[in-house]
Amino acid sequence: MGREEKIFDSFDACRISQSKLPKLIFDFIEGATGREIAANANVNSFNEVKLLPRALIDVSERSLSTSFLGEKFCFPFGIAPMGMCNLAYPNADILMANIAKERNLPHCIATATSTNLEEVHSAGEDKSWFQLYVLNGPERGLELAKIAQSIGYKTLILTVDVPQAARRLRELRNGFNVPFKIGMSQFIDFAIHPVWSIRTLSSGIPKPVLFQNEDNKFERTANRMGADWDFLNQLRSIWDGKIIVKGILSIEDAKKLKSVGIDGIWVSNHGGRQLDGAPAPIDILPLIRDALGKDFPIAFDSGLRDASDIVKALASGADFTFLGRPILHSLAAAGKAGLEKILSIFTEELY
Ligand code: FNR
Repeated sequence: MGREEKIFDSFDACRISQSKLPKLIFDFIEGATGREIAANANVNSFNEVKLLPRALIDVSERSLSTSFLGEKFCFPFGIAPMGMCNLAYPNADILMANIAKERNLPHCIATATSTNLEEVHSAGEDKSWFQLYVLNGPERGLELAKIAQSIGYKTLILTVDVPQAARRLRELRNGFNVPFKIGMSQFIDFAIHPVWSIRTLSSGIPKPVLFQNEDNKFERTANRMGADWDFLNQLRSIWDGKIIVKGILSIEDAKKLKSVGIDGIWVSNHGGRQLDGAPAPIDILPLIRDALGKDFPIAFDSGLRDASDIVKALASGADFTFLGRPILHSLAAAGKAGLEKILSIFTEELY
């Protein structure tokens, strides 16, 4: 029996992932900032939202397909951008891009990816969207956008909720760093997880590929303050496709983004990884929808753990939703089969 057969929901995937991954890697994925109050609230707040069933409606013909940013997708969910995914499972970025194309759902490749943007784009084609962090100054941000555009990416996600990288206590306690610094405790952690260690070593230790030279290093804790309203304007002028701004929780910001002509916003608190005092996005979503009107494109993530959460987000004003940790845990738990399984579970539950 494959390990994916033991996955019946995203919590199973998380448990199996914990048993497979070195603590250092599991905590990087599952951890959040501060006391992890925001991350826990993201999940728990969904319990307070109730769904009211309606009677005597013919539901014999149903469809999960939906449109977002002018594109038609088979499901109202996709895969959120996550850096260093290949730490969960070798080739994770490509596995996600492949399945995105196969099942017609969007997959976002992060600036902090360890896979070449070209390879991801040839696997996912237009289902792969590019997520931009402005590290090392606005010029480099614009340069990265131009590189992505020249490869063929058409949809860009500008993440704006990391003006300053947050302290994540699990990472500090475990000595998690990108690139890796391997001391005694990390060595022991890897040694007692030989399957992960051999698999990861033999496929090459993941490194952030967009930051490889001396004057353009990736520091996980570096600030990403290069993105301001002026930068957004410049980005708009060079990017031909759609731009969606990720990490919005304030009604004022949402209204301003609409007024400057951005294509859509993404309501998110980064899975609680950035600001521990931030509200749960599901609590803010209806207010933002009211402020923007019914037609403005809104994506949503943070805390979605099963299909009823997705239904609650859609009913609260989201047009589209994205999954974060459940995807990486499923990959860590059972590789490609785990990824297929979790997407099928969400699909079946939704249908
Ligand atoms: C993230 N997230 C993220 N977001 C982003 O815009 N750029 C990035 O590089 C990353 N990296 C990243 C790594 C890991 C390991 C995780 C778990 C998350 C945040 C991600 O896109 C999304 O907002 C949250 O993961 C959604 O919350 P849930 O679904 O994980 O609760």
